[in-house]
Amino acid sequence: TVSADLVIVANRLPVDRVEQPDGTMGWRTSPGGLVTAIEPVMRANDGTWIGWPGGTDEDLEPFEADGMKLVPMSMTQAEIEGHYEGFSNATLWPLYHDLVAKPEFHREWWDSYVSVNRRFAEKAAELASEGATVWVHDYQMQLVPLMLRELRPDLRIGFYLHIPFPPAELFQQLPWRRQLLEGLLGADMIGFQLPGGAQNFVRLVRQRVGHKTHRDLVYLPDGRTVRAAAFPISIDAAGFEAMARSEPVAARAAEIREALGNPRKVFLGIDRLDYTKGIYARLRAFSELIADGHLDVEDAVFVQVAVPSREQVEQYRILRDDIDRLVGRVNGDLGRIGRPAISYLHSSYPREEMAALYRAADVMVVTPYRDGMNLVAKEYVACRLEDTGALVLSEFAGAANELRQAWLVNPYDINGMKSALLDAYSADDRETRRRMKAMRRTVAQNDVAAWADAFMSELAEVPGSHGKAV
Ligand code: G6P
Repeated sequence: TVSADLVIVANRLPVDRVEQPDGTMGWRTSPGGLVTAIEPVMRANDGTWIGWPGGTDEDLEPFEADGMKLVPMSMTQAEIEGHYEGFSNATLWPLYHDLVAKPEFHREWWDSYVSVNRRFAEKAAELASEGATVWVHDYQMQLVPLMLRELRPDLRIGFYLHIPFPPAELFQQLPWRRQLLEGLLGADMIGFQLPGGAQNFVRLVRQRVGHKTHRDLVYLPDGRTVRAAAFPISIDAAGFEAMARSEPVAARAAEIREALGNPRKVFLGIDRLDYTKGIYARLRAFSELIADGHLDVEDAVFVQVAVPSREQVEQYRILRDDIDRLVGRVNGDLGRIGRPAISYLHSSYPREEMAALYRAADVMVVTPYRDGMNLVAKEYVACRLEDTGALVLSEFAGAANELRQAWLVNPYDINGMKSALLDAYSADDRETRRRMKAMRRTVAQNDVAAWADAFMSELAEVPGSHGKAV
């Protein structure tokens, strides 16, 4: 077996086991921001990644993919339903995202969450070398830090939450709130996207668990200190930029515009098909602009890529049906031959295709009701080589803290979104360049390597932190 100095624990592996059209099994890049961000860190640090490869019950041996050491953890159908679709994605996900959908609380889901977290913790304990660093990721794994600490007190343990950490009023609804807080406190350092999340956490620990706190530090009765601080995540900006610059991607971008009938402006949305993303509201805003004559389908088209996600969870099915119906109606009412108002793609694509879409788009529309960061916004910025292109961005995405020069919108305000879309559409060249240039600087400077370095070096500095530095 491997013995690793850096172990990543996440619910998902960076690759997803999928059945191919010819019936054989193959691998595909997993959806979502977590994988986009962690992959470059893994490559740079020669880590070992423990996670679920998707699908059911298949026992796979550890393997290497693209130079990454991957350790697949299988899940039973019951665990997929209880831990993954249930507690992670129908309890925690909606609750942490501000109740965009109603969270459900079921005791069997919790039991399944506990047992999956235990298996992942045991696997990390087995693989980590003496004094190694283990970096645990996201809301599906919040009990792993304490479970792991109990098995391996020699380790240095970091935890990072990729999604928002909610205010106390919401978190307190959880019947298992204390266990979750204590689970996280097994880490030496807990990273959040924004300072507000870290503050929410420290306040809850003080009030609910009764530990002493001072600023971003929590003092535990056993003498350990835990730090809770913000580390806004990012992307491999140079990598995206290089990809966007490459000849095949440039050619593909031109091809995409051609295939769309060379409209004056291309609007673009790229999201996992998730109710937190505000896809429905943005498409409505855009279609109203066409219906009321502010935009014309000869001039403007909205390309919406919706990456299939969590399709067994009811709220996601409902959303898919709602969007299918909206797109059908809008195109039926407002489209012309060869000119749909919305070009809708329910599929996932390789990164090169995303980069080509970013290059092809004049107005990028990112309108989540709540989002930890939103890396799509940063990817778009990184791919705008000539400082052209406008970003319309929700105030409620973590990215809005950094990308201040975007056209910021409140996604609950349809009229506000309509005017922002129109402003971004008709802004003059100087204005869009000024904004894009500033945003490109921000994204280039704060890339994912800087994020990981900051997290790792500050993890090593937490007073009383265990383990050795990597
Ligand atoms: C978000 C979460 C990740 C998750 C990803 C994809 O980015 O923060 O933890 O992996 O969505 O969702 P999925 O349920 O397919 O893993």
